[in-house]
Amino acid sequence: MSDQLKDFSSVSPSAKSLLLMKGYTNIPYAKQMAALMQGPEVFGLNFDDKDFWFWIRVMHFESRYWSVSQLLEQTDCKNILEISSGFSLRGLDLCAKDKDIHYLDTDLPEVVASKQNLIAELHLGQDAIGKYDLLPLNAMDNTAFSAVMNSFGNGPVAIVNEGLLMYLNLEEKKQLCKTIDGALQRRGGYWITADVYVRRSAEVTASLPTSQSEADFLAQHRIEENKFESYEAAAAFFKEQGFEMVSEAAPNYSTMSTLPHLISTLPEEMRASKQPPPKIQATWMLRAI
Ligand SMILES: C[S@@+](CC[C@H](N)C(=O)[O-])C[C@H]1O[C@@H](n2cnc3c(N)ncnc32)[C@H](O)[C@@H]1O
Repeated sequence: MSDQLKDFSSVSPSAKSLLLMKGYTNIPYAKQMAALMQGPEVFGLNFDDKDFWFWIRVMHFESRYWSVSQLLEQTDCKNILEISSGFSLRGLDLCAKDKDIHYLDTDLPEVVASKQNLIAELHLGQDAIGKYDLLPLNAMDNTAFSAVMNSFGNGPVAIVNEGLLMYLNLEEKKQLCKTIDGALQRRGGYWITADVYVRRSAEVTASLPTSQSEADFLAQHRIEENKFESYEAAAAFFKEQGFEMVSEAAPNYSTMSTLPHLISTLPEEMRASKQPPPKIQATWMLRAI
C-alpha cells in the first residue's frame, strides 16, 4: 500500500493560507501562529485591502472551524483523531480544557514539522492537561492510519477533518471512506467532516474575485470537480460507503468574531438583506452502519 501512495504535498501550501486568514479570527492560537508565518502564500490574498470578499471568506473558515467543534461537543468521544489538520490547534485547545482528552493531531510530514517548530517557538501546550500528540500521517495510507488509531486507549474515537475531501477524486474519497469505516467499525465513534461542499455554477465561480495564483491552484487540484453535485448526492455517496448522517452543524454567524468586519464592509446593495450568507458547505457527523 505505502509503495503506491500518491504525493499530496502540493496541497499543503493551502494550510498556510488558511492559517493567515484564521489569524484574523478568535480561533484559539491562530493569531499567534499566523504572526510567525513567513513568505508568500498560494492564494494571493490581499491583506492590504480587506474588503467584503476578504471578510466573507475569513468568516467562512471561522464558521467551518467552529462547526466541527459544535459536533464534537455532541459526542462523548475523548479519543480524537484529526486528519489533515494543517496549522489548526483545536487539539491543543481541547487538551488545555479536558484532562481526559487524547488528541492525535495529524497531517503530512512537512506540515507537521513546521507546526512543531511553531508550537515550540510559541511555547504552546505547556498548560495541556489532556494528552496531545502531533504526528505525521498520510490519511491515504491505510496501514499508517491503523497504526495511528492503535495509539488510542479504550473507547470510541471521533475522526475529524476540514479541508481535505475537495482535494481527493472520487476513487480517493472512496478509499478514505473505507479506511475510516473500518476504523469506526472496530472502535465505535463518529466521523465529523466539514467537507460537504457542493459545486458552484460557472457563472457564480466567474463572479467571485480570485487571483490568478488561486485560480491555478484550484484548477491544478480539480477542486470544483471534486466537490459533490448536491447535498443529496453527498448523502447518497456516504450511504454507499457505509455511513449514515447523524447530525449537521448549524452555523451561528452572530457569534463569529469576523461579523463586525463583514458588516462594516458590506456593499450598499446588500445592506438591506437579512439573509445569512448562501450555503456552500455543510459539516456532517457520520456513523458507520
Ligand atoms: C486546505 S488545508 C486544511 C488545513 C486545516 N484542516 C484547516 O482547515 O485549516 C489542506 C490540508 O490537507 C493536508 N493533506 C492533503 N493531503 C493529505 C493526505 N493525503 N493526508 C493528510 N493530510 C493531507 C495538507 O497538507 C493541508 O494541510
